Amino acid sequence: MANAKKGFVCGHPINHSRSPLIHNYWLKAYGIEGSYEKIDIAPDDFIKFCGSLAEQGFVGGNVTIPHKELAFRSVEHLDDAAMAIGAVNTLWLENDKLHGGNTDAYGFAANLDDQIPQWINAESAVVFGAGGASRAIVYALIEAGIKKINIINRTIERAQTLASAFGPNVTAHGWDAAQELSETSELLINTTSLGMTGDALFPLNFKTIRRETCAADIVYFPLMTPFLTGAAENGLNYSDGLGMLLHQAVPGFERWFGHRPEVTPALRQHILDDIGANT
Ligand code: ATR
Repeated sequence: MANAKKGFVCGHPINHSRSPLIHNYWLKAYGIEGSYEKIDIAPDDFIKFCGSLAEQGFVGGNVTIPHKELAFRSVEHLDDAAMAIGAVNTLWLENDKLHGGNTDAYGFAANLDDQIPQWINAESAVVFGAGGASRAIVYALIEAGIKKINIINRTIERAQTLASAFGPNVTAHGWDAAQELSETSELLINTTSLGMTGDALFPLNFKTIRRETCAADIVYFPLMTPFLTGAAENGLNYSDGLGMLLHQAVPGFERWFGHRPEVTPALRQHILDDIGANT
């Protein structure tokens, strides 16, 4: 194992992370000598940890909550996506310098290409939520050429701040506009945490939303959120959040381990088995 490359995911807490399952699945599938581990790093220790990657023999890794913004401020080089999103989820060493990228927008778009390819024809989209995750989605939609992006958020100021970072095609709204905007948009995306913790209903009447509309969630636990359940019951095209998790891992794996991996039904099932086992 002298040449084995080492990767990681760091966060605080980190126990819930499924990234090791994904990367270790690919390492095994492609017969690559390497490892990928979970590391719990407290916020105060993050910068020191970043400075010790080479010494610890890491080629790079993933960054998750709560370190994504701190990573954005700490690395020596940022890719375009990280710059636009203001957060880093992938680190790698290149010429002895620490680079940071963001693969969330890529993962979101690649998953929709797979699951609901007609999403790309949407002229108008509604994004529910204005937290950190929403920013990556808005960036992905702009990159995909979607002309009108409506952000809906309970705290309107957060939606306004997010919209103003992206220019005139992105507008901010309160929930009072949700129904009308959803009925006139081709793509609806939930980035709120509504339904993650229990049985809350998503505050939208799906019955009056056009069947051709595409709906996507970025949450994968539970897999069928109240938002997706509403979309599915009313015959909309939909995609759950697990695909985004799998696809966002692709560029990091390729960078660290030198092989572009594939997102397959078997990999998806591997993670689903774990989610099922841990409910
Ligand atoms: P993340 O960084 O993962 O996006 P976050 O910053 O906590 O997480 O954002 C969660 C999103 O879910 C926010 O848009 C939040 O709305 P507020 O900005 O108004 O807090 C939204 N959210 C959470 N609970 C909600 C609820 N009960 N009703 C409506 N929106 C909710």
